Amino acid sequence: MKFFIDTANLDQIKEANDLGILDGVTTNPSLMAKEGIKGEAAVLKHYVDICNIVDGDVSAEVIATTYNEMIAEGEKLAALHENIVVKIPMIKDGIKAIKYLTSKGIRTNCTLVFSSGQAILAAKAGATYISPFVGRLDDISFDGIQLIAEISQIFAVQGYQTQILAASIRNPVHIVKSAQVGAHVITSPLNSILALLKHPLTDSGLAQFLADHAKNNA
Ligand code: E4P
Repeated sequence: MKFFIDTANLDQIKEANDLGILDGVTTNPSLMAKEGIKGEAAVLKHYVDICNIVDGDVSAEVIATTYNEMIAEGEKLAALHENIVVKIPMIKDGIKAIKYLTSKGIRTNCTLVFSSGQAILAAKAGATYISPFVGRLDDISFDGIQLIAEISQIFAVQGYQTQILAASIRNPVHIVKSAQVGAHVITSPLNSILALLKHPLTDSGLAQFLADHAKNNA
C-alpha cells in the first residue's frame, strides 16, 4: 500500500519525505487555504514546489465544476509537472472530464467519493485513483472502512485498474484497517502517519535495553 501525505504544508511534506516511506501528496482547496496560498500564480507555484520535494504523484484539485472548464484547468495543472494527478470532484461533469482527460493520457483522482456506485462510475470513466472519504463517513455514523472494503471487493471482481485511495484519514487505525481491506493507497495527515510508530512496549523495551547496556559497560 502506498503512503501519501494529505497536506499542502511544505515542512510536513519534507518531514514525511525524509522518513523514506512517502509515495505522494494530496492537496485540496481547503488545505491550500490553510497554508495561505491564494491567487492562481501562487497556487501553481506551490504545486511545483511540492513536486520538487516528493518523487511521487501529487494531486492538484480543479476549482471548476463544468466540463469545459474542468478540462482546461486539468490540462493546465497536468502541464506543470509529470507527477501531477488532476483531482476532479465526483459530479456528472467530473465523470465526463475524467473520461476525456484519461483519453489524453492525463491521470486523474476522483475526489469526494462516498458510495460504491460513485466508485464504479469513476472506474468506468478511467480514473487513476478514486478517493473515498473514510473519516467524513465515520463523522456521520457510516462505516468508512466498510466502504473501502466494499469497493475493494467490487474492483477485484470486476478487474478495474483504478486504485482505491483511502482519504479523510483521521487516525492510525484508519491506516491499518485500510491496508487490511485492500486500499491501494492511503492519504493521511502527518500526525496519523507518525502515530503508527508508537507503542508503549517499544519505548519501555528500548529504555530497558539501553539501561542494561549502560550498567554492563559502566
Ligand atoms: C482527500 O484527498 C482530501 O484531501 C482529504 O483526505 C479530506 O480529508 P478531511 O475529511 O480530513 O478534510
